[in-house]
Amino acid sequence: MNIAVVGAQWGDEGKGKLIDILSKDTDLTVRYQGGNNAGHTVVVGDQEYVFHLLPSAILHKSKVCVIGNGVVVDPKALLGEIEDLQKRGLKITPNNLKISGLCHIVLPYHRILDGLRESKRKNKIGTTGRGIGPCYADKVARCGIRMIDLLNPRLLKSKLEDNLTEKNEIFEKVYGKKNFSFGDIYNEYLNYGKKLGPYVADTVIYLNAAIDKKKSILFEGAQGTFLDIDFGTYPFVTSSNSIVGGACSGTGVPPTKIDKVIACVKAYTTRVGEGPFPTEFSTGLKEDIRTRGNEYGATTGRPRRCGWFDSILVRYSLIINGVSELAIMKLDVLDHLPAIKICTAYRYKGKIYKQFPMDFEVLSKAQPIYEELPGWNTSLRGIRQYAKLPSNARRYIERFEELLKVRVKYISIGTKRDEIIVR
Ligand code: IMP
Repeated sequence: MNIAVVGAQWGDEGKGKLIDILSKDTDLTVRYQGGNNAGHTVVVGDQEYVFHLLPSAILHKSKVCVIGNGVVVDPKALLGEIEDLQKRGLKITPNNLKISGLCHIVLPYHRILDGLRESKRKNKIGTTGRGIGPCYADKVARCGIRMIDLLNPRLLKSKLEDNLTEKNEIFEKVYGKKNFSFGDIYNEYLNYGKKLGPYVADTVIYLNAAIDKKKSILFEGAQGTFLDIDFGTYPFVTSSNSIVGGACSGTGVPPTKIDKVIACVKAYTTRVGEGPFPTEFSTGLKEDIRTRGNEYGATTGRPRRCGWFDSILVRYSLIINGVSELAIMKLDVLDHLPAIKICTAYRYKGKIYKQFPMDFEVLSKAQPIYEELPGWNTSLRGIRQYAKLPSNARRYIERFEELLKVRVKYISIGTKRDEIIVR
């Protein structure tokens, strides 16, 4: 079976842990969009791993990991991640890691431009500053440099020269910054090409041939539905399609070959960066949940904004992603609360909204309407069977099912690999 895992909120839902668990039973795992703006955390025993570009399944020895064409690769960051993991005893070779030659490459000017654009904006996006937006912008503007180009010195030279002619003029005239040196970037990136060359493959052919041989694939989504460039809270979004549709354009595997979509949500909501967030806590609980849930960005370390679970948001996500099953992560973070709220509608200018509003102003100014459920007021640690959960915890989960009309299959109750209930 080929399964896609997507985030149904604003990212950081706990996809890394779910991928780690599911990838035990699949042959290949493929990342399909985003870049090293992502941070997927997996805890194994007392070891914590944070993956930015490598699929989280790289921890499983016999599994193959693929970086699909939809991912933008910062070669320096990728090589750093590979080296770090090799130092920690993991084997990463061209046998268990394949990188699409069609991936677009993050260059130094993308990273700098990301920061400069953000600094000039009145309405900041809260970008991670990894150059992801400018790199995708070049892809669409048809001047991007791809992984395969790093293996072809003549082509790299000609593309880089073209790019620098334009970029240096922008840097100088718009931002008053000094020029990038062609020679420095050219030599640095040729060198990355030499190091990454052995991993580069035609992953479209590779993945589709694997499917023909009845191998199973796990598609690892990064970020979340409301950071999607088309469907998210634009312009406070990332620059790729983080919904399940991105799995097809970002790998070359057709939609008819994806059998199941699992959406990952937190038992509450978080968001890092700017943008509307109707159920955000104002005070008190914000610090409390942030501390208990360790809600700090896995990539930038920024404190995440926290709020109640928003069923309006997630229901929209489930429609877009055609979700078959839901995974609720971090339920244990709510263990101590006497009462827990779920947002079931928004109110704006006297009107009630039961669907995710397209109008940005409505979303930004909407008052959430809540339903309150009793908490379970006890630790969920150690529970492995659904029936053993306190009745109020089951009530909370079953209310999700009623509101969202989807089955909850996985319930995560801790950071460790085995702290999960499978129903
Ligand atoms: P960028 O993709 O780095 O430009 O960031 C754009 C927005 O998406 C910012 O609000 C980031 O905080 C957010 N973002 C990007 N990647 C992630 C992620 O992996 N998890 C959560 N938020 C993210």
